Amino acid sequence: MTNNHEAVTVIGLGAMGSKMAETFLAAGHPTTVWNRTPGRAAKLVAAGATEAGTAAEAVAASTLVVISQIDYAAMNDSLEGVDITGRVLVNLSSDSPDRLRQASRWAQERGATLITAGIMVPPPGIGQPGAYSFFSGQRDVLEQHQATLEALGRVDYVGTDPGLAMLYYQAMLNLFCTTLISYMYSAALVGSAGISAEQLRPYAATMMNELADEGPMGYIKILAGEIDAGNYPGVENNLHMMAVGSEHIAQAFSQAGLDVTLPSAVAALFARADAEGHGLKGFSSMTETIRKPAA
Ligand SMILES: NC(=O)c1ccc[n+]([C@@H]2O[C@H](COP(=O)([O-])OP(=O)(O)OC[C@H]3O[C@@H](n4cnc5c(N)ncnc54)[C@H](OP(=O)(O)O)[C@@H]3O)[C@@H](O)[C@H]2O)c1
Repeated sequence: MTNNHEAVTVIGLGAMGSKMAETFLAAGHPTTVWNRTPGRAAKLVAAGATEAGTAAEAVAASTLVVISQIDYAAMNDSLEGVDITGRVLVNLSSDSPDRLRQASRWAQERGATLITAGIMVPPPGIGQPGAYSFFSGQRDVLEQHQATLEALGRVDYVGTDPGLAMLYYQAMLNLFCTTLISYMYSAALVGSAGISAEQLRPYAATMMNELADEGPMGYIKILAGEIDAGNYPGVENNLHMMAVGSEHIAQAFSQAGLDVTLPSAVAALFARADAEGHGLKGFSSMTETIRKPAA
């Protein structure tokens, strides 16, 4: 392909990496792909990608190397012994912030630059309106490749510390996982009485919308203000009341013969916050308990 588009290599052809490669190709970028297990590139090759025979060939093909694998250990497995000098590795895999910091040093020692990233959409969302990723690391290096990376979605740069992309990503994934697991618990609770998840859905959807809204149930905004101010007024929703209520939630699950792991953990957290003296403060004073690991 002859055009002015930057060449890109994609390492890792799982659900995410395959879609990323497809998206780069569709945007006109000469795209080289490689996956540990062969046989996952046929569709991409048919769409114009070049399949590298080895990770070393894949890295040699482009300055910009986009990585999407199960975790950062996979990058080490794939690239150990490969010459990555002068390469810009952009890793969009999940891992922990400290692991990203370590990987950044590992890349630097080998003459490469690692840009860390957390992508906030599932495969069908890649390159679609609203898609975005958190990026951290060397801003000037990111900016040199930003136009190419924008094919995947908006580039939200969050700072020089290479761990920051995952700090944001895991903060958001925590919200995603606990919210949806909570929803599954709630569906199971009503399901124990023969009520379908579909019957619960409008109530659940209304609550989620209201939480994100700015009305009386707009707790995302209300709590942000209270957390940032370190001020937890408890006139209308004191924490002790919530602690007692959270025990009732756990009892409802137990009485229905369901798993109680999540409701019990929530009740235990409330009980600890109450015992630490936050009972008469607002619900948001739970933040103080979360900031101190349990003894
Ligand atoms: N799927 C989503 O909705 C989503 C959304 C946002 C972020 N993510 C993150 O994106 C990353 C990729 O997710 P995915 O859904 O594409 O996962 P996936 O479909 O399970 O693909 C995993 C990829 O990692 C490779 N891999 C695993 N262990 C390896 C190793 N030791 N050495 C080399 N390659 C290895 C696999 O290669 P083989 O084919 O050889 O096994 C495969 O290419 C994950 O970190 C995930 O948390 C996923």
